Amino acid sequence: MRIPPQLEDYALRTQVLDFAPAALSGAVEARLERDACVHVSQGRFAAVGPWASLSNHLPAGLPVFEARSHVAAPGFIDAHIHLPQIDVIASPAPGLLAWLARHTFPAEAAWADPAVCAQGARFFLDELARQGTTSACVFGSVHAGSVEALFSAALDRGQRLVAGKCLMDTHCPEPLRDTAEGGVQESADLASRWHGRGRLSYAITPRFAGSSSREQLRLAGELARARPELYVQSHVAENLDEIRWIGELFPEARSYLDVYDRAGLLGPRSIYAHCLWLDEADRARMAGSGALAAVCPSSNFFLGSGLFDFAASLAAGMRLMPASDVGGGQSWSMFEAMRGAHAMARLRGTALDASQLWYWASTGAAERLGWGGQVGRVAAGYEADFLLLDAAATPVLTRRTARAGSLEEWLFALMILGDDRAVHETFLAGRPSKPANLETSP
Ligand code: GUN
Ligand code: ZN
Repeated sequence: MRIPPQLEDYALRTQVLDFAPAALSGAVEARLERDACVHVSQGRFAAVGPWASLSNHLPAGLPVFEARSHVAAPGFIDAHIHLPQIDVIASPAPGLLAWLARHTFPAEAAWADPAVCAQGARFFLDELARQGTTSACVFGSVHAGSVEALFSAALDRGQRLVAGKCLMDTHCPEPLRDTAEGGVQESADLASRWHGRGRLSYAITPRFAGSSSREQLRLAGELARARPELYVQSHVAENLDEIRWIGELFPEARSYLDVYDRAGLLGPRSIYAHCLWLDEADRARMAGSGALAAVCPSSNFFLGSGLFDFAASLAAGMRLMPASDVGGGQSWSMFEAMRGAHAMARLRGTALDASQLWYWASTGAAERLGWGGQVGRVAAGYEADFLLLDAAATPVLTRRTARAGSLEEWLFALMILGDDRAVHETFLAGRPSKPANLETSP
């Protein structure tokens, strides 16, 4: 089954996966419509429902594609990933600060070159699509050109994306430094050019409190206050050495999170990666401000940063989204992020259902980013960002999923065993977008 990319109006006969939190318990319920009709028109779902009732009402002559062995599911949303780290992935170091100094900062310096940005942005978006990720919250490099290249490529693809240039005016190599005022002005200019264009959003992106001066954080907070429609994204409480150092840099702050809070950078459109070493007061402040935590297990395992405390964070009412954090993370795949979250929770005595994790990685992430009702479900009126999953992509997947006694067991097996091979197709606004294996030039 191949749908021509130019086709704007078509239907699929397929299965449909949907997630919804139960009204009373809050536990997520997954549902599967086994014989469904999905009508896609002009980038949205025109109608989704049982084949038996809907197929008779399709417009005459509408092309209908057969995908009954596949499952249409909402696209994954990666809450935290770095564009200029496509060549940093799989670079070992004894911890975050050494990894930044040895591998990450030198690699990001290359993004001063517009040709590197243009080619890198295409590679990055191809890889997202190959892995079934339809939206992401992306850190550019310090160079405005990296975000220009990314937004321009995403606009061409009709993709929903959040991105921002890193603000970093201190404690990093000279070629990667902006200035407090210059960096925030560049961010404001980028936001004016790109925020709200197509499906693009700008995020004010102070990299972390280690590489932004007090003045830069203050100005970033001012911009966030002046433009509340923009997102804010940063890192917090990832690594113990880092936290000690931030404590020395900002002795007036009660905690690492408090550095951002004092600067006015904590609100319902703020996304903080890691949140591994928050204390009770920090968790309460995250929950109270409505800020979002991007949980990055693959990166935390790789860099040995620590284990996210799911039980305490959920009890505090924090809003969570899983994320890859490439290049600290070891893969673009949200299957890897979900199974990492499962393993990490297990190591702290918490059991997480596949339905819960899958919801956080798709429908729930859309809701938390303020896109509820627009994207994140295969349902009438929603933007058609979706996947066709193939639970028979490998011999082990075929055998294990065939023996699943429930939808939760089936999802769990797919989550643990799945990778890009289980993503048969990725649709961005209804357009098939998964590159063939050799299509992306290295
Ligand atoms: N803290 C500051 N910058 C980074 C980064 O690029 N990756 C991670 N994982 N943590 C950071
Ligand atoms: Zn990161």
